[in-house]
Amino acid sequence: MSQARHSSLDLEPLENCDVEAAYARWAPVYDFVFTAVFRPGRRALAAAASKADGPILDIGVGTGLELPMFEPHTEVYGVDLCEAMLRRAAERVQRNELNHVAGLYKMDATRLGFADACFACVCAPFVLTVAPEPEAMLDEIARVLRPGGEIILVNHVSRNGDPFAIFEHWLDRHVAPKLGWRPQFPWAVIGDWVDQRPDMQLVERRLLAPFNLFTFVRIKRLPTMGAEQVPEARAEPEYA
Ligand SMILES: C[S@@+](CC[C@H](N)C(=O)[O-])C[C@H]1O[C@@H](n2cnc3c(N)ncnc32)[C@H](O)[C@@H]1O
Repeated sequence: MSQARHSSLDLEPLENCDVEAAYARWAPVYDFVFTAVFRPGRRALAAAASKADGPILDIGVGTGLELPMFEPHTEVYGVDLCEAMLRRAAERVQRNELNHVAGLYKMDATRLGFADACFACVCAPFVLTVAPEPEAMLDEIARVLRPGGEIILVNHVSRNGDPFAIFEHWLDRHVAPKLGWRPQFPWAVIGDWVDQRPDMQLVERRLLAPFNLFTFVRIKRLPTMGAEQVPEARAEPEYA
């Protein structure tokens, strides 16, 4: 995937190995630190995704905090780059008997091992800011999404005039690789991607608690004309 599109948006570079190492460090304390602050975003995302008419892919499932929030009738697959996070997700699935979780896989979301167009919904809670190549991730998400299906994102998006902006900028320059995410993330990463995809339409964008810190986004892959053949979302589960 081209770096050129990123450079115009001035994103600080991250590498997959930085991200994986950072989340291996976060894994033992992740739930303690991030359960409450991300909860409204996870709830909104899981409620919207649970309306999907078919399998759901959860990108960057992490320790699986959102997994119990999907409705029991759903069929959810989770992927993550970081094995230490996935192990905790697998424990959660077992402990809470989350029978709607069909599989957890160690996969890079820019190179998913799933067939084209096999998911009715692909969601990515708090992941794009973490991704070294967010547009490449969106392209790959679009590949595995059925026509008529939805991408659901929750993310921190930087805002002009935000009192946190100077702090975000400082964090970005100095500690982004250690943190494992980019504190600064312009809307243009998502907006420009949608604008250049004639098959995608932005259907919802709203701010979420706490303090409007996060943005909830729904993007629809426009249906194609004629009958679709729907491939199965199966692959050998590694963790569940
Ligand atoms: C901030 S955590 C979010 C975890 C979970 N969704 C939640 O709400 O708590 C971001 C997760 O994305 C994963 N991740 C980052 N880049 C990824 C990639 N390219 N492919 C798959 N997972 C990735 C990280 O390993 C991490 O577990």
